[in-house]
Amino acid sequence: MDKFIINGKKRLTGEVTINGAKNAAVAILPATLLVNGVCTIENLPNISDINIYCDILKTLGVKITQIGPNTIEVDTTKISCIDAPLDMTSKFRASYYLIGALLGRCHRAVVGMPGGCQLGARPIDQHAKAFEALGATVEIGQGKIQATTDKLIGNSIYFDIVSVGATINAILAAVLAEGVTVIENAAKEPHIVDVANFLITMGADIHGAGTDIIKITGVKELHGGSYSVVPDQIEAGTFMLAAVATRGDITIKNCITKHLDPLSAKIEEMGAHVEEINGDTLRVWCDERPKKVNIKTLPYPGFPTDLQSQMGVVLATAEGTSMITESIWESRFQYTAELNKMGAQINAQGKVAIFEGVEELYGAPVAASDLRAGAALIIAGIAANGITEISHLEYIDRGYEKIDEKFRALGADIKRITE
Ligand code: UD1
Repeated sequence: MDKFIINGKKRLTGEVTINGAKNAAVAILPATLLVNGVCTIENLPNISDINIYCDILKTLGVKITQIGPNTIEVDTTKISCIDAPLDMTSKFRASYYLIGALLGRCHRAVVGMPGGCQLGARPIDQHAKAFEALGATVEIGQGKIQATTDKLIGNSIYFDIVSVGATINAILAAVLAEGVTVIENAAKEPHIVDVANFLITMGADIHGAGTDIIKITGVKELHGGSYSVVPDQIEAGTFMLAAVATRGDITIKNCITKHLDPLSAKIEEMGAHVEEINGDTLRVWCDERPKKVNIKTLPYPGFPTDLQSQMGVVLATAEGTSMITESIWESRFQYTAELNKMGAQINAQGKVAIFEGVEELYGAPVAASDLRAGAALIIAGIAANGITEISHLEYIDRGYEKIDEKFRALGADIKRITE
């Protein structure tokens, strides 16, 4: 079991370059199954979720060749329309994108019930609703999801709630369907736009991704091509909040500044500073103790749930009493108990957490409970006085490439040890 050992109270300064977006990449990889040809995917983050996805695709007969540190070639010319391995697919949430992709390519899909970080119940009723609207039969039980159809036919899909996963799955299933599909109340996250752009590059006909109405006209076939994954909005936001939490000064390169607007607005409201250097670089700095703010997580362009815990670290030492309302995942406040071990005063009840800002955190042994909680604890450890020991790094490795190296380059004293 690996651990991070952090000797804290360091002010982070310098430059960091952001990798490709995990949340886009875990949908683009299964989307290659819809292509009859070879795709080159660049700017792919080197993280464990991507490695598992590549291993799953290989079991389906996909040939994957690493042609650079962050570039792979994916040959989906000959695939086997067999069940996806249940043990592997049930390990993480994004395996459910195999259903939309395999339905499109093979007209049948069998995938393990999605696992991943323990953020709360993970219903998939909206995914099933989309597949059924396009003519598939969906059965859920015995730890797996099965979807089959003779053919997929375009239709109207109106989602009851805004779901990133269901929106992407509906797009995947509709791309090769016969006729027109219109998705209403679609999610608008940057990674949805990125998956649509990947499919459009390969010959799909999709309009409106990034708005709440997406129109897909089915095409007969997708061809191969090259695509570069969008920069990771959440990784960029993690470093922005690390700058504020450590009263530091970080220049964040290779990000899409527009995607970070909901966070930049909050950082400025706290009295810290964000300067856009051009469309792909941001400087964030903080000279004094940030002021209290209230946050409510919402679908994009609201404040992202994936930055809630990193923001929680900032609020733990902000001046005054702040409140976070988590409206996406019910179990996303587990990190607050760990921060309280470090001297924070946070009271989390259900969807709401109240942060009584303290002057300073101190180091303590803590455990990551999910991917973003893990990133938050690293930031807390770097800001805190003394030594912090973080366990359960497997969560952090799922979604951040070389996070310890990147923080070290900014001045953190963090090392990874294997026990
Ligand atoms: C969600 C986040 C995404 C984040 C990811 C991992 C939103 C809208 N989505 O995406 O930004 O990167 O978690 O933290 O912020 N739901 C249903 N039925 C369904 C599907 C979802 O009720 O069929 C509910 C979920 O329980 C959840 C909400 O809808 O409360 C949003 O879920 P969804 O967007 O699908 O989750 P992810 O795609 O995992």
